[in-house]
Amino acid sequence: MKKSHHAIFINLKSNFVLLPRQVSVLTLPDHTSIIHHVLIDGLEPETKYYYRCGDSSVPAMSEEISFVTLPLPSKDSYPQRIGFVGDLGLTSNTTTTIDHLMDNDPSLVVIVGDLTYANQYRTTGGKGASCFSCSFPDAPIRETYQPRWDAWGRFMEPLTSKVPTMVIEGNHEIEPQASGVTFKSYSERFAVPATESGSNSNFYYSFDAGGVHFVMLGAYVDYNQTGAQYAWLKEDLSEVDRGVTPWLVATMHPPWYNSYSSHYQEFECMRQEMEELLYQHRVDVIFAGHVHAYERMNRIYNYTLDPCGAVYITIGDGGNIEKVDVDFADDPGKCPSPGDNVPEIGGSCPLNFTSGPAKGKFCWDRQPDWSAFRESSFGHGILEVMNSTHALWRWHRNQDVYKDDSYGDQIYIVRQPNLCISPATSREAGGGRETSGGENRFSSPSLPIFIWIFLVFGIL
Ligand SMILES: [Fe+2]
Repeated sequence: MKKSHHAIFINLKSNFVLLPRQVSVLTLPDHTSIIHHVLIDGLEPETKYYYRCGDSSVPAMSEEISFVTLPLPSKDSYPQRIGFVGDLGLTSNTTTTIDHLMDNDPSLVVIVGDLTYANQYRTTGGKGASCFSCSFPDAPIRETYQPRWDAWGRFMEPLTSKVPTMVIEGNHEIEPQASGVTFKSYSERFAVPATESGSNSNFYYSFDAGGVHFVMLGAYVDYNQTGAQYAWLKEDLSEVDRGVTPWLVATMHPPWYNSYSSHYQEFECMRQEMEELLYQHRVDVIFAGHVHAYERMNRIYNYTLDPCGAVYITIGDGGNIEKVDVDFADDPGKCPSPGDNVPEIGGSCPLNFTSGPAKGKFCWDRQPDWSAFRESSFGHGILEVMNSTHALWRWHRNQDVYKDDSYGDQIYIVRQPNLCISPATSREAGGGRETSGGENRFSSPSLPIFIWIFLVFGIL
């Protein structure tokens, strides 16, 4: 996008309050952009709105586009289909993934990090590298390339201009620059309701979509129990009213449970810091990416099968240039060394198992009991929340696009609030909502619904 001094505006058919939220000039090597974010107040839930976006002073308005707002927080209303996708990049596989995702008509999309892979574009020439650091060991400080970010935005526009899309940052968004600048391209492009959710950082936040409360966790900022993110998470979870938002879903970029060799136990430090808090609050499902393959875990807590633990799902198989991950840590000769997988930011806490078939060892010698299903194919997932206790999860592989109603994995995720009672969720198990205290900040009807439309629009 070339630099322009004209204001971008959104023209809705009715009168709404348009609040300029942020106008930033993004200056990075070889490129300057002006990026506009607008907050639209006063929208009704579950309502279709039509809008045009652009600059009316020059012939540069978009087509008329529509989106549907999400339902208000309620145990009786849910987004019809929530799409999950991660580690996208911009390849022919990405194209299939996004086409397939749009065919499945999501009402909300959650991207679990690693969006554009623009940080590798120049070095690789846009070609695939299954292991970037192996193929380019002498690559200088990780690059950034704004035309690639903008190309990705234009590629995603048919989806993101029509469907509310929420994001969490991945390691490919770090893009370290001079003077310690990180996440610049990502942060300037993607607005998130951090302030609205009581967070003082755009790297972690929460939001409601009908009866689902999402907590979006940052793996590349401080996650320790002494830090600001943990304090925010504790506060946020304590304010969730499961009588209003029965479903609690967490996302982060790297998985805590992962039986692939790639990124094996890479974020064990984060798990050790945060898992207990999520378990106490009976988080139902935890989505991650980072590993470029699919894996669904049985309910687990602290590496022990537990009916009240979360269902962990790795959905980092969006189709990026680094190829799909195929090696399992339990394959002969494929167990990484404890020092092999170290996060770009944060420490390393390799763990030898203390019980079970892999006791005393770093890797299992067969598919671990906690790994329910795994497959190295590109794809995306759709979560259909039926009611306060049942949700249907389907993993749609790219190869399934050629067959009607075909999928690679399917499971009903069933909540058992009366079995999995904890002090943190006792209100729901007790069958009623407390009238004093614990008011969910998002359930207030005086607050607007936040819909984020990520529209990249070129001014010629
Ligand atoms: Fe990643």
